Amino acid sequence: MKKYQEDLEKARKEVFEELAKVDKIKNLEELKIKYLGRKGIITSFLKNLKEVPTESRPTLGKLANQVKDQVEAIFKKRIKELKIREPSEEKRIELLDYTLPGRRGWQGKLHPITQISEKIIGIFYGMGFEVAKGPDVETDYYNFGALNFPKDHPARDMQDTFYIHDDLLLRTHTSPVQIRVMEKRRPPLKIIAPGRCYRHEAINARSYCTFHQVEGFYVDTDVTFADLKGVLSAFVWELFGKEIAVRFRGSFFPFTEPSAEMDIACVNCKGKGCGLCKYRGWLEILGAGMIDPEVFKNVGYDPEVYTGYAFGMGVERITMLKYGIDDIRLFYENDLRFLRQF
Ligand code: PHE
Repeated sequence: MKKYQEDLEKARKEVFEELAKVDKIKNLEELKIKYLGRKGIITSFLKNLKEVPTESRPTLGKLANQVKDQVEAIFKKRIKELKIREPSEEKRIELLDYTLPGRRGWQGKLHPITQISEKIIGIFYGMGFEVAKGPDVETDYYNFGALNFPKDHPARDMQDTFYIHDDLLLRTHTSPVQIRVMEKRRPPLKIIAPGRCYRHEAINARSYCTFHQVEGFYVDTDVTFADLKGVLSAFVWELFGKEIAVRFRGSFFPFTEPSAEMDIACVNCKGKGCGLCKYRGWLEILGAGMIDPEVFKNVGYDPEVYTGYAFGMGVERITMLKYGIDDIRLFYENDLRFLRQF
């Protein structure tokens, strides 16, 4: 009687141990046959009852049946669990809903400022310009001094420029790249320099504390203002369309002489006059001019030998004109409803 009980207990333990290792329905079914099949280990205990002494039979029979029920129950539970994890091929197909609309992946896009910067660069690249870059943190010399800004120029005021300390500042324009490139290289130079600029200005719909410019310049032995007009007109026609009218107005920059501002016919009213162009019919899009001889002297070029032009444009402004955006702050708020439109 003792032996029977011990063997039964051993067999029960064994089932549980083996069960713990199984994680496939197929293996579980094999195991079930091994223990609960007609010739199974647990089943055999019930069969062997006839060999135990008659007086022990009721107790042992009850015990063997209990074990069998318990083992059966646990098999049932495990099979059910595995069936959920491992649905049959038919079940899997049945679970598929072919009518469900597909999931569209989120697609990232370049920021409109990046898109237009790249477009501008691409147009000049096509006209033989190469790309150069300079640092956002500049010295007073590169941002102002070498560009012929007098010591008391208002742009040098703390009101307009972010200073890190006396001599170090956040560049207020991309023109310092002119100096950095010319110091290192000799003409001919045909350079386009995109980058971020910073100005300590009151923030409103038209101006922001940071913005982007694209600078361009060309230095060689006989560059003329006519070259400048030709290249800028070709650029504008490429960006805004062939038929758009352009004009150059006299202006002033410390680092160019003569200087000009370039206007295009209002993209909204085509020159008739509207709110966008303040009824002038024209929109200013960039500053330009012939590089001042003083600048050439600062980089060690002989102004008697070399001439050159330079221009600089605000990317935000051009993007606003191109897409009819009326508030520069939208570029920096990262509102997806705005950004998704580009
Ligand atoms: N740096 C000038 C500005 O920020 C633009 C400019 C560049 C004008 C090159 C002339 C030549 O306003």
